[in-house]
Amino acid sequence: MAYGSFRQFVDALDQAGELSRIAVPVETNLVLSEWANREMKSPGGGKALLFEKPMIDGKPSEFPVAINTMGSRRRMALALKLESVEDLAQEIQLILKAKPPTDLREGWSLLKQGLNLLHARPKHAREGACQEVVHLFETENRKPETGEFSLNDLPILKCWPKDGGRFVTLPNVHTRDPETGARNVGMYRMQVYDDRTTGMHWQVHKVGARHGKRYYERGERMPVAVCLGGDPAYTFAATAPLPDGLDEILFAGFIRKKSVELVPCKTIDLEVPGDVDFVLEGYVQPGETRPEGPFGDHTGFYTAVEDYPVFHLTAITHRRDAIYPTTIVGIPPMEDFYMGDATVRIFLPVFKMNFPELVDMALPPEGVFHNLVFVSIRKQYPYQAFKVMHGLWGMGQMMFSKYIVIVDEDCDVHNTSEVLFRLCANTDPERDSTIIRNPSDSLDHAPSSQNIGSHMGFDATRKLPGENYHRSWPELLKMTDQAQAIVDALRR
Ligand SMILES: Cc1cc2nc3c(=O)[nH]c(=O)nc-3n(C[C@H](O)[C@H](O)[C@H](O)COP(=O)(O)O)c2cc1C
Repeated sequence: MAYGSFRQFVDALDQAGELSRIAVPVETNLVLSEWANREMKSPGGGKALLFEKPMIDGKPSEFPVAINTMGSRRRMALALKLESVEDLAQEIQLILKAKPPTDLREGWSLLKQGLNLLHARPKHAREGACQEVVHLFETENRKPETGEFSLNDLPILKCWPKDGGRFVTLPNVHTRDPETGARNVGMYRMQVYDDRTTGMHWQVHKVGARHGKRYYERGERMPVAVCLGGDPAYTFAATAPLPDGLDEILFAGFIRKKSVELVPCKTIDLEVPGDVDFVLEGYVQPGETRPEGPFGDHTGFYTAVEDYPVFHLTAITHRRDAIYPTTIVGIPPMEDFYMGDATVRIFLPVFKMNFPELVDMALPPEGVFHNLVFVSIRKQYPYQAFKVMHGLWGMGQMMFSKYIVIVDEDCDVHNTSEVLFRLCANTDPERDSTIIRNPSDSLDHAPSSQNIGSHMGFDATRKLPGENYHRSWPELLKMTDQAQAIVDALRR
């Protein structure tokens, strides 16, 4: 069953031998980050780290810090309570392919899918564990006093030396469309400006930014709730590139096979999962922006200072035994690679539904999510590789894919060396590449202007008649099965 708290997940990591506890005091200003970076760079993503005595500028923090909790394939599966994330992909595939059952076995499996979907619906409660401790800030009649609990009491990291300050790096940001009432949860980092104010880094293409625009147009204050911790399924759902309008809370309920129990916030009109560790309640004021950054980013570079909306806190509520979850991003591979990797594997059936020829897909760590996409296809007709590229460029956040390389089905896209071999061997650059214009990832520093740029696709498949290739395509070297079997036996 689902995790009842983030602490339960941390304990599960411990039992699985996936956690290192750090009992010595460690400063949250750069030192914790340096420790975590070394761990994330160790083979297979190292271990999750629980810093039991984090220090905030020399003062002990009330809350421990957990980092790298999803930073390996095994821990990512543990986070979603699965043996392997492929199990979830299989469930999604079953739902996508659902048709009336023809026998009892199919009937049972359809019933199970129906039950899983039932869990997706959230429940509602009046209060939750996330409100065991309540710190109210600015309400109509009450202003905060100095020395009161504030953001400064959370062990928020300064990640890299030239960062503009401390950043909340694993926030699940809850917003609502003021017109339709649709909810969204996205992960947008938050720079701490002072004890009650942060930046809100929703990039222009993201749903939070779209909701914000609606409030600004109406001139209304926008309620925002930021959750930290709880079942890691919430955090994963916040990062997943779900289509705008597909509710992350429903998706989280589906993943954890248990309804999310929502509770009303104390100072704003929004609901949050009751079992998270911290809730930062507050609002964004229409039109108010402030310089955000620099920040040592996923790209491995500092992203420059830019204006972003400002988040004003009206309350912080938390569990009594809360653990502060965080991550750092930087030169790959980092923890976020494993989150992105799980996303691709889980949503492969959705891609396959759109592209029946698609066999497999990988976003290698060197490409930091969108910069490099490898796709294998079962090719039937000329220019099919180009059709797939253009389709991907039109699909949600796949629009950011800078380089797409399409290979034949017998190439393992998870082996970068094999893909590069096909790319180099099978392409005539002029004939087999295309360059298009598309929106670019806001974090990409290479395009001349932010948010727009060019993307390139390579057709590294074998050429079919009709693809402007006027010779006979050579055969790829392959040893006979018999010779392989003999050597296997001799070497045993
Ligand atoms: C660790 C981490 C940090 C992220 N930080 C940001 C960020 O600061 N701003 C942003 O727009 N997207 C950020 N993202 C990506 C978004 O969370 C992701 O695109 C998500 O799908 C957005 O949700 P939405 O489509 O509901 O807006 C981050 C992702 C991860 C894994």
